[in-house]
Amino acid sequence: MARSRNHEEWTKPPPFTQDEYVDSRIYSDEDIFEEELDKIFKKAWIPVCHESEMPNAYDFRTVTIAREPIVMTRGKDMKVRAFLNVCPHRGNMIERRPSGSFLEGSPSGNPRHMTCMFHAWQFDMKGRCVYISRQEEGYQDRLKKQQVGLRELKCEVYFGGFVWVCLDDNTPFETVEQWSAGSLECLKPSLDEEPLEVFHYHKAIIPCNYKLWHDTNCEFYHDYLHYHNRITGFNDSYFARKNMGFDNGHINVGSFEVNYDNYEGFDSRAAISFPHLPPNHWYMIDMFPGVNFNLRGSSLRCDLMTPLGPDKVMIEFRGLGLKSDDEATRQSRIEHHNSIWGPFGRNLHEDLLAVTGQGASMHPRAERRQILHGRHENETIHDENGMRHFYEEWGRWMDRLPADPDQPFLEGDNIKKAAVAAAT
Ligand code: FES
Ligand SMILES: [Fe+2]
Repeated sequence: MARSRNHEEWTKPPPFTQDEYVDSRIYSDEDIFEEELDKIFKKAWIPVCHESEMPNAYDFRTVTIAREPIVMTRGKDMKVRAFLNVCPHRGNMIERRPSGSFLEGSPSGNPRHMTCMFHAWQFDMKGRCVYISRQEEGYQDRLKKQQVGLRELKCEVYFGGFVWVCLDDNTPFETVEQWSAGSLECLKPSLDEEPLEVFHYHKAIIPCNYKLWHDTNCEFYHDYLHYHNRITGFNDSYFARKNMGFDNGHINVGSFEVNYDNYEGFDSRAAISFPHLPPNHWYMIDMFPGVNFNLRGSSLRCDLMTPLGPDKVMIEFRGLGLKSDDEATRQSRIEHHNSIWGPFGRNLHEDLLAVTGQGASMHPRAERRQILHGRHENETIHDENGMRHFYEEWGRWMDRLPADPDQPFLEGDNIKKAAVAAAT
């Protein structure tokens, strides 16, 4: 009997064009990772939280983007703003709590101000410096408060109340609408009809590259992993769902009607489906470089990825419903959400196990592997055109060829025309 493949055969390029596979070093290389933070994450619009998580004046939340600490505040005027969470005096991180309120005073902070605990400089909700301790004694008239405000960041509340931040003042995408390039339109009427509210939040730190989580969100071929999805989907309308690419690397997965009744113990979600959404429909939006909006009829899920290293990602999972929900409706939404997407739900742990397995294989010292993205099925659900679209954009931003990151990126069809070593 013929044997399998030896080392030489295993390391040969696959019988695909160079847009149909990627080199696993893009998931493990330390230098590539650092470059991604600078070239991608410091330039993209990121939905860092939802406005319902800071409902009152003086509420705040903190996050990081590309390791930069950021604080979002809600002013007395109820406007949400974002600032670098860095003191202009000696660079201390001003606020360390994940969330809270500046309304009341604290041992190291005055009411209604952000106070740096180090030397007690204070800032208001608009980021203006309002107090410098022993200002005249130390600085005489050489330093004015106006010269030491916080750095304000581009910030917009958009798409059902998500708070978006961009670190690049000179981004060519002036608004989130421009950045999203039409990819949010399929869900916009459903999310903008009335205010939403976060009812679920948990986070997980997973030993894999952030792009692997993005991949598993945007390709549905892996529904073989999910017994629940096979039982409730896998019919003609499921296989007709289209993957659609938008500018800037974003992707939609088209909708179909899920048959929740086919899964023992589950019921239809039609009665409390989101506004304007056909009953039990299921849309997915995957945004470059690592954000996912997933609306399964009655509950919305949002994944935000914060890359912590080439082989480590923090994923924040949020579940949202309508703010107007009565208690019973909210409880149903929570059950619908948690039974599939909660930490003990039907699907989420399966996805996490799969990407952890990929992470174990693609560790930083691993020999390069070829990761195949070569399925073509008329751009329908099990086609891998969504991933190809994402990695084309990745290559453009990084000026690296995903199939061989030591080579510069080749625009469009040039990838396909590039010489491909025969593997057959
Ligand atoms: S570092 Fe913030 S007041 Fe000195
Ligand atoms: Fe999945």
